[in-house]
Amino acid sequence: MKIDSFDGKNIHLFGGSSGIGLATAKQLANLGANIFIYARTEHRLKSAALEIENYRQISEQKVVWISVDISIPEDVQQVIASTVEKYGTPDILINCAGRAYPEHFEAISYQQFEETMKVNLFGIWNSIQSILPYMKENGGLIVNTSSVVGYVGIFGYTDYAASKFGIIGLSESLRSELKRYGIGVSILCPPDTETPGFETENLTKPAETKAISQGAGMMEADQVAVQLIKGMRSGKK
Ligand SMILES: NC(=O)c1ccc[n+]([C@@H]2O[C@H](COP(=O)([O-])OP(=O)(O)OC[C@H]3O[C@@H](n4cnc5c(N)ncnc54)[C@H](OP(=O)(O)O)[C@@H]3O)[C@@H](O)[C@H]2O)c1
Repeated sequence: MKIDSFDGKNIHLFGGSSGIGLATAKQLANLGANIFIYARTEHRLKSAALEIENYRQISEQKVVWISVDISIPEDVQQVIASTVEKYGTPDILINCAGRAYPEHFEAISYQQFEETMKVNLFGIWNSIQSILPYMKENGGLIVNTSSVVGYVGIFGYTDYAASKFGIIGLSESLRSELKRYGIGVSILCPPDTETPGFETENLTKPAETKAISQGAGMMEADQVAVQLIKGMRSGKK
């Protein structure tokens, strides 16, 4: 699914208050889109929305923030329904919400595993289930953020890799189902990227994981956003 123009498009970004999601939101605002960002923490959403507003082409472009936990299906359904009712049909959904607390497998509690799956994988399920009935009206695009760890298992990432491999399976299956509605499904697999989330990751990262990633280089969130938008324009899956 190629997106020729972002001008006037309604773009919903989960995880749009920080890191890759925020960088993408700013660039899309600069291309004329209406931006709807979702995350949990209100003060970060508010300041992100102010930043995004500065990138708008015209003041009529909407920049709206919505506080919700992506892992709670009924809450996600409710906020998407009310946002769509107020601002109109969604054109693009970008799923960037995610968490990573790398550790040795034996140090990862069941609760951590459950939380990682609920946010990273079930969260994407929730946002897509909630937005799809509206997106089917005009077609559109769904972008799900996996990771390099979504196709190569890496030391220290057992719970995270399980969630990110899951996103690839979900997205590839869904792609063939949604083609009939004119909805594309793409997967973003960033490498290590300089973001607040990456800083948090580093707090628990085992030495072995650090050693592996040292050789791999880092990207800036803005660079990932540039690649994501380029991919959306070219119809990259
Ligand atoms: N940075 C990297 O090196 C890297 C590499 C590969 C893939 N990725 C993936 O790229 C995506 C973005 O990563 P990032 O580094 O930009 O992360 P980040 O800076 O930590 O931003 C994460 C965003 O997700 C939101 N979020 C987290 N938990 C949430 C929840 N339960 N409900 C709703 N929103 C939630 C956060 O806001 P609140 O905390 O306020 O909710 C924030 O807006 C993630 O899926 C990550 O796994 C990142």
